[in-house]
Amino acid sequence: MVKRIGVLTSGGDCAGLNAAIRSITHHAITHYGWEVIGIRKGTTGLINRPLEYIPLTIEQCDSAVLRSGGTLLGSTNKDNPFSFPNSDGTRSDHSDDFITAYRELGLDALIGIGGDGSMHILRQLAQKGNINLITIPKTIDNDLGETESAIGYATAVEVATEALDRLQPTAASHQRVMVLEVMGRDAGHIAIASGIAGGADVILVPEIPYKLENIYNKIKKLTDNGRNFALVIVAEAVRDEAGQPAVVSSLGERIRYGGIGHYLGEKIIEATGADVRVMVLGHVQRGGQPNAADRIIAAAFGIHAVDLIAQGKSDRMVAWKHRDIIDVPIQQAIDAYHSLQPTDVLVRTARGLGICLGDQ
Ligand code: F6P
Repeated sequence: MVKRIGVLTSGGDCAGLNAAIRSITHHAITHYGWEVIGIRKGTTGLINRPLEYIPLTIEQCDSAVLRSGGTLLGSTNKDNPFSFPNSDGTRSDHSDDFITAYRELGLDALIGIGGDGSMHILRQLAQKGNINLITIPKTIDNDLGETESAIGYATAVEVATEALDRLQPTAASHQRVMVLEVMGRDAGHIAIASGIAGGADVILVPEIPYKLENIYNKIKKLTDNGRNFALVIVAEAVRDEAGQPAVVSSLGERIRYGGIGHYLGEKIIEATGADVRVMVLGHVQRGGQPNAADRIIAAAFGIHAVDLIAQGKSDRMVAWKHRDIIDVPIQQAIDAYHSLQPTDVLVRTARGLGICLGDQ
C-alpha cells in the first residue's frame, strides 16, 4: 500500500513545473489519500543534512501555483549525486545519502520531473536504492524521445514568437536585420517552431548545416524585392563556419552555449552592409507564466504519474502521444534522443514558406 510519495524537479527550470506539482499533489491526496513530500533543490534536498523537503498540501497547491513560473521546490542542473561537490572543492559519490534519506522519509515512490540528464541520474539512483520511480518529461528543448511534447517547450516557443513579433516593427521602422538567438541546446525545435510562428526569413538550427552565402543571398533578395527588414532566428548550438560552437563557458560538466547570434550579426554586416542588431533571448524563455498548453500537459502528466504509482508501476516515463498520455520505459525515452529531422513537418513547412534554412 502506497502511503507517501516524494516529488522533485530536476535540471533547468521551465514554465509549467508548478502546474505538474499541483496536479500530483491534488490527485495523490484527494483521490488516493496519500501524503506528498516535496523535495527541495532536486536530488540535492536529500543529500544535504538537514534534509530539505516540505510536506505538500492542497492549500499550498492552489490555482496561483498553477499560473506561476519556475519551480516552488527549486532545482539543480549541476549537482550529480554520484559526483557531488564537497565543501573542500573535491567531488565524491553521495548517492547513498540520497537513498538513506528516501528511506528515512518513509517514501513509497518518487516522481521526478526532469529532462534526459536528470532522468538518467534518477534512474541510476532508483536502481541502486530500489526506489519506485516514475518520471515526467520537462525541457524547453523538447529533445526527449518518446514524447511529442515536454513541459516548458510550448511556453518557450511562445516567448520566442513574441520576441519576433516585437522585433519586426522596430526592424521595419529602422530598415534593420534583426538576429534573434534562442535556446534549445543541441536541438533546433524552439528555433524552427517560433521562426515559423513569428515570420522569420532565415532559421538556422544545429541539425541543418548552413552556408553564410545562402543567408546573404536571402537578405539581398528581400531587399531587392523592396523589403526593408529581415528577421533571422538562430539556435544557440549552431556552429560557426569553421564548425566551432559558440560557448560562454565549458567549465564544469556541460557546455554553456552563447554567442552565435553576435557572430552571425557581424558576418551579415560585413557581407551585406545591412544595419544589424542582435538579441539573445536567454532565460526569458524559461521564466514567467506557463501558457495554456504547458499547464494542460503538466496537469495530465501529473495525474497519470500518480495513477501509475497506484497501479504498482515503476521505471516508467509518462509521455504525450497521438493526443493521449501513455507511459514508456524511462531508458527507452533517454535513448531515443529527439533532434530535428530533415523530414520533419516543421522543416517541410519552413521550406514551403520560402524560409531560408541556410542550406540553399
Ligand atoms: O536545457 C535547457 C536549457 O535552457 C538550454 O536550452 C540551455 O542551453 C541551458 O538549459 C541553459 O542552462 P543554464 O540555466 O545552466 O544556463
